[in-house]
Amino acid sequence: MMATFRIDALHNELGACLTGIDVCGTLTQMQIKDIKTAIDTYSFLVFPDQNLSDEAQLLFTRRLGEPEANHVRLGREGVIDYFGTIGNVQKDGTVIGNSHKQTKYLTGNNMWHSDSSFRQVPSYVSIMCAYEVPKEGGQTQYVSARSAYRRLRDKTKKTIDPLIAVHDYVFSRSKVAAVDPSHAASLPPVQQKLVRRNPVTGEKNYYVGAHAKTIAGWDETEARNLLDQLLDQATGSEHIYTHDWAAGQLIIWDNRCLLHRGTGYNADKYRRHMRQTRVAGGVSTLEE
Ligand SMILES: [Fe+2]
Repeated sequence: MMATFRIDALHNELGACLTGIDVCGTLTQMQIKDIKTAIDTYSFLVFPDQNLSDEAQLLFTRRLGEPEANHVRLGREGVIDYFGTIGNVQKDGTVIGNSHKQTKYLTGNNMWHSDSSFRQVPSYVSIMCAYEVPKEGGQTQYVSARSAYRRLRDKTKKTIDPLIAVHDYVFSRSKVAAVDPSHAASLPPVQQKLVRRNPVTGEKNYYVGAHAKTIAGWDETEARNLLDQLLDQATGSEHIYTHDWAAGQLIIWDNRCLLHRGTGYNADKYRRHMRQTRVAGGVSTLEE
């Protein structure tokens, strides 16, 4: 692929490191087009040594599409904020430890998931900027649900292609912490296609993860078995790309076809500070 920057692949199923580009600077239309092509091709992009700031991150987010309002602040407080803070460093620079309720809440991210799959219009990509990273732990792992779909037997593909899954944030997050009542009320369960297709390349993937609760019209146990089986098949150790964060990295991942999870870290011992934005998808997956 010809591009306006250098591309080095990271894993045989996903991921590339892009160098020779200042993502937080002024980007041309051609560079944005090349980044979108790289997203469709590699699903996960890391840009090392960037000159990061919230302002630059939001500008870049808008170049890729419509920023998505953080659902936690929107649901709890009715406030539109395009950023989420990942880690234990607070606005004033102080740190919260392992026993803090917000740290526990964030451990929900340690289950395999796709960001915002529980929203009617789910996320296209997440963008994360790393400011402080722990010396041990705190990695993020990724698998390609596109490769996983390719590995399925034809019979299974035929079975799952027309199915509709129900994604429910309260279902998944209640496993680690109680969800604030107004937040829960703002996120009723939604239906999503179980099998999605990349609109540019036409490649299919399945769309599962922690928020996928059941399959529309199916018996609960059978639905659970199928969803668990699909997740297991996607997340075998040989298919995982484990990302070691470094301060100064900007990362983009494609929520349409990747699953990810945090590996956890010791919040009593280390500081971790990342800022995340998301670009919303265009329409519900039911209309794709
Ligand atoms: Fe996530």
